[in-house]
Amino acid sequence: MASFHSLCFVILLLMINSRITYISAQLAPVSVAPSDGLLPNGNFDEAPNPSNLKKTTIVGKYSLPKWVKKGEVRYVSGGPKRVGFTFDVPQGVRAVSIGSEAYILQYLRVKPWAYYSVSFSATRTCPLDMYLRVTTSYSDTADFAFPNKALYSRKEADTFAWGFRAFSSNTAFIMFSNPTGHPKYYACGPLIQAVAVKELLPSPQTSGNLIQNGNFEIGPHILQNFTTGVYIHPYSLNPISPLPGWRIESRYTIRYIGSKDFFIPSGASAVELLVGGKENAISQDIDTTPNNFYNLTFTIGDAKNGCIGSMAVEAAADKETIKAQYESQGKGGVAYANFRFKAVSFRTKIAFWSVFYHTTIDDTNRFCGPVLDDVKVVPAL
Ligand SMILES: *[C@@H]1O[C@H](CO)[C@@H](O)[C@H](O)[C@H]1NC(C)=O
Ligand SMILES: *[C@@H]1O[C@H](CO)[C@@H](O)[C@H](O)[C@H]1NC(C)=O
Repeated sequence: MASFHSLCFVILLLMINSRITYISAQLAPVSVAPSDGLLPNGNFDEAPNPSNLKKTTIVGKYSLPKWVKKGEVRYVSGGPKRVGFTFDVPQGVRAVSIGSEAYILQYLRVKPWAYYSVSFSATRTCPLDMYLRVTTSYSDTADFAFPNKALYSRKEADTFAWGFRAFSSNTAFIMFSNPTGHPKYYACGPLIQAVAVKELLPSPQTSGNLIQNGNFEIGPHILQNFTTGVYIHPYSLNPISPLPGWRIESRYTIRYIGSKDFFIPSGASAVELLVGGKENAISQDIDTTPNNFYNLTFTIGDAKNGCIGSMAVEAAADKETIKAQYESQGKGGVAYANFRFKAVSFRTKIAFWSVFYHTTIDDTNRFCGPVLDDVKVVPAL
């Protein structure tokens, strides 16, 4: 008798549970992932209905159009407004802040097995906000530490990129949460201003060039209203590189920059090497034939962003290195470098790093550096 009762209870629970799941699946909006652009309501232009706002706090799981939310998520608009302790939301910006243990997520219709990168513009609003956690489907998770003072701009949010691969299913989700919030300081929480995705297509085979994506034309979406370039997570934390072919070897080593906001030597995008030292390299492994000679060519320049001084990029092919120099006036320019090397094995690691540290003239807290573009390796005689 007792077991019959508990069985009934279990069945009842199951029914309640499946009903709840059914309801949330019905209500949760599923959007089609753009192949290159903002997510639906990705810049939070569509505000929650005023009746779903308690001051700035969003009330209701589905009240932020196109998104699902949980916990203390606030909607900030109409600036200029101070959020938390440190960040002034500029005029015209609409954004959400993610409180302690809160999240926002969006379900997306994606192409099975395709590669995507997510670009999002975010900033901390309090010194307490250490991380913004990004989760894509199938527990692919990363914590984005906000850059320390040396990279962090009070005036403009930084953009970050994260690569992921869709699985066999055609639905994925992108979720932002706050793992380090402090319930006592409810007004704190990372502020997200815009979220975009881009499908990463295989880079076309450039005839003769052994380097993949050597001109950096394939990379994360660069947000239209943000001018700071895009930081890419290191390879160790994000093996699906938002910059196909390339490995970023440490945190905040490079900034992916586009011709919308910077001087680019060739094509529409390039990378700026921000942090000096060999451990902060960007690299790629290529197939080589031992004892054959190869010619490595690349350009070094400046992005026209007030980064002034003597710059040097060291390039390595396995253990052979050369140093390319460039005098930057900060006004945009380029120099060409080439280097003949002899392969010692079937795989050769090609790596680049900035020799020095630089900061921009108008903000000595902000790193900048030489721009690398147009990397080619061709067999040489
Ligand atoms: C850029 O900002 C303007 C004004 O704030 C806004 O209307 C527009 O939708 C934004 N564009 C994108 C792509 O976010
Ligand atoms: C390598 O390529 C550069 C640029 O095309 C060229 O000027 C240089 O002579 C080449 N060097 C060798 C050894 O082939």
